[in-house]
Amino acid sequence: MTGLTSIRRSGDKIEIVNQLLLPHTTEFIEINTIEEAHDAIKSMKIRGAPAIASLAALAVASHLSRALQTEPVPAFLASSEALKAHVSARLAFLYTARPTAVNLGAATRRLEGTLRTAVGAGKEAREVARALISEAETIDDEDVGRNREMVKWGGEWLVERVRAAGGAGDELNVMTVCNTGSLATSGYGTALGLITYLHETGKLKRAFYTQSTPYHQGSRLTAFELQSLKIPSTMLCDSMVGSLFQHHGIHAVAVGADRIARNGDTANKVGTYNAAVLAARHNIPFIVVAPISTVDLEIADGSAIPIEQRPPLEACLVRGALYPFSLNAQGIKEQATVMVTPEGLEGVYNPSFDVTPAELITAIVTEKGVAVKRDGAKAFDLSSVV
Ligand code: MRU
Repeated sequence: MTGLTSIRRSGDKIEIVNQLLLPHTTEFIEINTIEEAHDAIKSMKIRGAPAIASLAALAVASHLSRALQTEPVPAFLASSEALKAHVSARLAFLYTARPTAVNLGAATRRLEGTLRTAVGAGKEAREVARALISEAETIDDEDVGRNREMVKWGGEWLVERVRAAGGAGDELNVMTVCNTGSLATSGYGTALGLITYLHETGKLKRAFYTQSTPYHQGSRLTAFELQSLKIPSTMLCDSMVGSLFQHHGIHAVAVGADRIARNGDTANKVGTYNAAVLAARHNIPFIVVAPISTVDLEIADGSAIPIEQRPPLEACLVRGALYPFSLNAQGIKEQATVMVTPEGLEGVYNPSFDVTPAELITAIVTEKGVAVKRDGAKAFDLSSVV
C-alpha cells in the first residue's frame, strides 16, 4: 500500500498534504481552526469526497479537544445547550465549503445527530464534546476499512465478468478518471483502490488515467500515486479517451463518485460522463466505486445534484514546477502558476463535476457489494442497498 496520505493526525494536531503543490513538493500544513479546514476544502488543498468529509469531522474534533484543555473554560462549554449552538453553527459552516460531494454533508449531519442525541440524553457539555470527538475520529477511521471491502467486491466481480465473456481475467486494462486513491480518501482509495487491488492480486496489466483538466487530478495526483505504487500505467489527455477505446483493449472504466442519486445517476469529476458515453459505445463495463455514504437516497435522480462551478480563472491556469527544473534556496523545485488563455477571457465554462446517467453505468460497487440493474432496466434501485 502507498505511504501517501491526505491527512495526518496525532492527538488534536491535524496536518494535510497541500495537494495544490503535489507532485513536486510534499508539504504538510497544519489545520488549527474550523476556518482553516473550510478554506483548505474550498481552495482544494485537500479534495476528494471522503477526504474532505474526514477533514471536516477531524477539524471539529480538534477544535473541541483543544477547548476541553483550555483554561479558563470557553463559554460554549458552560452548558450543553451553549455547546449545541456553537457546534451546530460550525457544522453548518463546514458544510458550505463544497456543494457536490454528499460525504461532507453526511459527516456534518452525522455529527449533528451525535450532538442532538447526547444533549437530548441530558449529558453535560464535556461529555457531549467527548462523544463528538469520538464520532469524528470514527468517520475518519472507517474509511480505509470500507475501501478495502469495496475494492475486493469490485475486483472479483470484474475478473468474473471478463472471464464469463471469454477473456483471461488476469491481464486487465482499466481506465480511471480524476484521483480516487489515498490522497482522496483516508487510505487505499475507491476506484484507484480497485486498480491497486487488481495489481496486488496479479490481475492488472495496465492502468490508464485521464489528466482530468483543469485541476489535473489525474496528471498530478493519480500519476504520483501510481508511480509510488509501481503500477504500470499510462496517462492520456481527456480528449483522447475515444482514441484509447478504439485502439487499446480496455476491459473496464472505474471511477469514484461525489454523489449517487437513488436511481444510480452519479456525479463525479467533469469528464466522467464523456468517458461513460464512449465506454457504452465500445461495450466497455463502466463501474462506479464509492462508499455507501456517497449514495444520497433523498435525491431521486441526477437532476437534483448540485454541481459546483469553480472560479473561471481556474480553468485558465496551469500550476506546476518550472521546467527545466530549478531549485529554490531550500532545494525545492520552483513552482509556478501559468495562464494558458488570453488575459480577461469573457466566457469560461468551468463545472467541477458532471452527472453520468445510470443507464450508462454497469455496476455500482460499495462496501456492501456490487449493485447491477435488473435485466432491461435503465436505472438502479439503491434504496435496498443502503
Ligand atoms: O474536485 P475533486 O478533486 O474533489 O473531485 C474528486 C472526484 O471527483 C473523485 O472522483 C470523488 O471525489 C471520489 S474520491 C474517492
